[in-house]
Amino acid sequence: MTSYKLLLLPGDGIGPEVMAEVERLIAWADAQGLAKIETETDLVGGCAYDAHGEAISEAAMMRALAANAVMLGAVGGPKWDGVPYDQRPEAGLLRLRKDLELFANLRPAICYPALADASSLKRELVDGLDIMIVRELTGGVYFGEPKEIVDLGKGQKRAVDTQVYETNEIERIATVAFELARKRSNLVHSAEKRNVMKTGVLWNEVVTRVHKEHYPDVTLQHILADNCAMQLVRRPKQFDVIVTDNLFGDMLSDEAAMATGSLGMLPSASLGEADARGKRRALYEPVHGSAPDIAGRGIANPIATIASFAMCLRYSFDLGEVADNIERAIAHVLDQGLRTADISQDGCKTVGTREMGDAILAALDRKA
Ligand code: IPM
Ligand code: MG
Repeated sequence: MTSYKLLLLPGDGIGPEVMAEVERLIAWADAQGLAKIETETDLVGGCAYDAHGEAISEAAMMRALAANAVMLGAVGGPKWDGVPYDQRPEAGLLRLRKDLELFANLRPAICYPALADASSLKRELVDGLDIMIVRELTGGVYFGEPKEIVDLGKGQKRAVDTQVYETNEIERIATVAFELARKRSNLVHSAEKRNVMKTGVLWNEVVTRVHKEHYPDVTLQHILADNCAMQLVRRPKQFDVIVTDNLFGDMLSDEAAMATGSLGMLPSASLGEADARGKRRALYEPVHGSAPDIAGRGIANPIATIASFAMCLRYSFDLGEVADNIERAIAHVLDQGLRTADISQDGCKTVGTREMGDAILAALDRKA
């Protein structure tokens, strides 16, 4: 059996708690003879800053580059509010994305039927929702230069962020979106602000050309990003794949996530370019943050991280069947009425992180 190297970066806040459940799944998969996964663990975020004075050490970066995939928990928290900008916890995550060239961020927003009532939207709007947000992850205003605050004197300052995109960056993310759409419902919405931004004009132009030249069989709709935000709460099921830039993707994915019931449910995959053997560098992480308010209490929802691990099995380790089983096990425990606090519901049993992990393992065992 092929053996894979997985780097675990649990990070801050609830990160270590939810990652512990993934470690149990890895042990389970190994015991069942389903997967051989060698893990290493390192620091990222505030905990790395505390240990090394930077949000990710060179050694951890080397490990990330050498691994077949990386699983990340979460970074950040109020404890590090005062650290210098370049060393803030988020800088570790951004460096991983940039240096591993993980330009394609896949954020599926799926509403499990059992959770349709946990959404802030009406059940009929979200029941059966299945959207894939494809967020550009290594460009745009996150990384554009200059990025600075300049002192103008007389108590005045000027802050600058730079939104910048080049043709090839848009081409490759559009390609990912069209390819995914072909395996889904064949519809892509491309969201930008071409009415205000030059990057939006170029985005629109390049996506239109990639579509015309290579994917005329896929339905393409251009949508202004603000309208997309509105439509996501008005009629979310009209969407299949949404492709958008780094900043709009950050916001639209939080919005789509909430429509499904809880941010605690949603996984993500960040992928690089495929090499000659079709292998991509990859990092998997839940969409939610470090939730410092509930950290250390054993009540965090581990499902987003477990589902991220399922994506890792599918996209990086060719273990799609095991991934399917994990996703079915998640749906099963939800059907059974088990809920962590973030998705608690009348008539359901509220459980902690560990118990949720136990239940998912038990559901897998029944299947195995
Ligand atoms: C996300 C997060 C990150 C982002 C933060 C933690 C830097 O919000 O992954 O959506 O803005 O990309
Ligand atoms: Mg975000």
